[in-house]
Amino acid sequence: MTKLVYILNGPNLNLLGKRQPEIYGHDTLADVEAACAAVAAGAGLAAKLMQSNYEGQIIDWIHEAREAAAGIIINPAALSHTSVAVLDALNTFDGPVIEVHISNIHKREAFRHHSYVSARADGVIAGCGVEGYALAMRRMASLLA
Ligand code: DQA
Repeated sequence: MTKLVYILNGPNLNLLGKRQPEIYGHDTLADVEAACAAVAAGAGLAAKLMQSNYEGQIIDWIHEAREAAAGIIINPAALSHTSVAVLDALNTFDGPVIEVHISNIHKREAFRHHSYVSARADGVIAGCGVEGYALAMRRMASLLA
């Protein structure tokens, strides 16, 4: 059966393409979804992209992934810097987890330098723009091979 990869996106990423394009670029989440689907298909994987502005919804999707997904790519957005609950949820998931940040969080304000999610992530990609998602999918394919 084709392995499924969840691509989870946290608060404000629904506005990707419109929100602070000087930081996050002009591509939308739909563009990210298409790019990831292409990489996934080339690797014999399937991808499902989701976005929510609600911490609890992200946690529920991580719980769902325990049964439904082989791996998780996650851009927790601002929840990276605040949410022990998202970290705890990811710690219930057995498969590979790759954390993505569109911007280089280490080059930005000090409060963005720490991510709770990085304590669980098998890999972290930051500062590669939206291409980071496709890079994460390539790495996910290697990890799931
Ligand atoms: C982000 C970086 C976070 O600090 C920020 O809160 C986001 C997006 C990124 O993709 O660069 O919303 O995760």
